[in-house]
Amino acid sequence: MRQHVNPLSKNFNEIERIPSLIEIFSDPKLNLHLDIGCAAGEFLFDLALENTCWNYLGIEIREQLVKNAKLKLREREIKNLYFAFGNANNILNDVQSECIIKNVKSISFNFPDPWFKKRHYKRRVIQPEFINLLSNSLKRGSLIFIKTDVKNLFEYMDCTITSNFNFKIIEEKDISFFESFNPNKVKTNREKYVIDNGLEIFEEIYIKI
Ligand SMILES: C[S@@+](CC[C@H](N)C(=O)[O-])C[C@H]1O[C@@H](n2cnc3c(N)ncnc32)[C@H](O)[C@@H]1O
Repeated sequence: MRQHVNPLSKNFNEIERIPSLIEIFSDPKLNLHLDIGCAAGEFLFDLALENTCWNYLGIEIREQLVKNAKLKLREREIKNLYFAFGNANNILNDVQSECIIKNVKSISFNFPDPWFKKRHYKRRVIQPEFINLLSNSLKRGSLIFIKTDVKNLFEYMDCTITSNFNFKIIEEKDISFFESFNPNKVKTNREKYVIDNGLEIFEEIYIKI
């Protein structure tokens, strides 16, 4: 399976519309967390099984990973988890996603693809337009979590988010992790790899004000 796909390729112009919350979750009123670039979704499977009082939605651009995750979801009959395939920027930019974003309590960007070359920065998932979109649609108090082991990418994401005056950094001690989407601090696959290899993790949390 390809490790990287170009999100700007026209293959992703057509999007998979996310059905309404009532169609995808057994209890659409639960808090909703969105994980962008969820790969095979193991992190979300762990979370959904542990925290049944949250709904989880993963978006991933590699189609086969989403197909496999959807199969696994059906086999296990998990009712608080859903996966969508496509470029998250395009999916969330669709008018029909507005209602989903309005209901999101938190979003995670865990170890997004770094796209090291400067001319490829535009392929990075966090872009000013995307943050604007989130800032216009997210409710006040919603949180954005970012994590990466690439310092330059961290600085880029941090600068992009804080350049939007509707987001400000919130200290970890000022949020109640117990009530968050990830009370037990479940780790993603990339995070486990980074920890096992003694690499540094750069992370920040932002609140919509
Ligand atoms: C380095 S992996 C990290 C996977 C996982 N979050 C983790 O921490 O283990 C980044 C993932 O983001 C996906 N991705 C990259 N750009 C994306 C986009 N624009 N929309 C949705 N998914 C994207 C990639 O296909 C890949 O699976």
